[in-house]
Amino acid sequence: MPKRSTAIKVPKTCGERTIVLANKMKIVDKELKIKKDDCFIYVPIHHKPSETILKALKRQVTNMQVSTSVFQKKPKRVSTYSELLEGKIPKRFQASLPHSADIVGDMAIIELSPELQEYKKTMGEAILKAYKNVRTVLAKAGAVSGTYRLRQFEIIAGEPKTVTIHKEHGCKFLIDIAKVYFSPRLSFERSRVASLVKEHETIVDMFTGVGPFAVQIAKKRENVEVYAIELNPDAFDFLKRNIRLNKVDGKIHPILGDARQVIDDKLTGIADRVIMNLPEKAIDFVDVACETLKPDGGVLHFYCFVNASNSLQAMEQRLAEAVEASGRRIRKKPLSKLVRATAPYEWQAVLDAGVV
Ligand SMILES: C[S@@+](CC[C@H](N)C(=O)[O-])C[C@H]1O[C@@H](n2cnc3c(N)ncnc32)[C@H](O)[C@@H]1O
Repeated sequence: MPKRSTAIKVPKTCGERTIVLANKMKIVDKELKIKKDDCFIYVPIHHKPSETILKALKRQVTNMQVSTSVFQKKPKRVSTYSELLEGKIPKRFQASLPHSADIVGDMAIIELSPELQEYKKTMGEAILKAYKNVRTVLAKAGAVSGTYRLRQFEIIAGEPKTVTIHKEHGCKFLIDIAKVYFSPRLSFERSRVASLVKEHETIVDMFTGVGPFAVQIAKKRENVEVYAIELNPDAFDFLKRNIRLNKVDGKIHPILGDARQVIDDKLTGIADRVIMNLPEKAIDFVDVACETLKPDGGVLHFYCFVNASNSLQAMEQRLAEAVEASGRRIRKKPLSKLVRATAPYEWQAVLDAGVV
């Protein structure tokens, strides 16, 4: 509904300067829309400005006037989910509210501390209201575990489903979060690795999951060949569907099986680049990663976890020893960096090692 309000009226040519100034002075009524006609701009303000403010304004915008006018109201802003929870969750728990949710397609995933368990439905509904593209809210119900690196989830609000399509850097990934591993937090890392790949490279993605590294590389480069290996039959099924979904058939060879076995059987000496995103176990596969590299060498993207008792330097040392035990060596000090925090005082890290 329109509302009459005090306004600052200025010629259009001074509009921008006036808006900046009035905003700085905190006198703009943000619930109303600024309006204009052929010659003037009208900025709604809370009340008639004081003499001091008026003087300050006139010093900078000489031809301004104070008038009244009728303004349209702005559509109501969607509140943040913590605003929506005000009064619904005891104040003492406000500090434990998750600061953000992981968004996977149209699903939001949150981590709930034990004291918030009884408020999970309220929280889920607040998230549905605050994030307009979210259809389902899930709470983590355990750690990532097992050979397939899966996590259990509890659906706390919205549509009861775990399947979605996640979009990332121009690629689409069909995912069943209950049956496969997927982390949206690796998005930047995947894009970083994809941008290092050169035309005509052969890549072995040893632990490909639903194929986020492989698909992004194939989408980015015209002439590449990616061997994408996965042990989990469900993830392998989604990998094949994602290859079709992204129209990169022909560039990616999906292979179901254990990376060690597959490389031993048919991928010896073929790769320019190897992706080893199985942080808890990658160290045990360095020998086969070296085996799949071309005889004159290539690059390993080696992922691991680092924490207080296992530093990045210690991992560099372990990787160097494992490469040497395979009859190769690291050309120069690897580029090593933290990729993301995974727990208090624990990070996933990557070591890019040139191996000859
Ligand atoms: C941490 S996930 C990474 C998936 C994917 N690269 C990504 O970034 O989303 C590791 C994947 O390796 C698979 N995996 C575990 N052991 C394997 C093995 N020996 N050979 C092939 N894949 C394996 C798991 O099923 C899981 O999908």
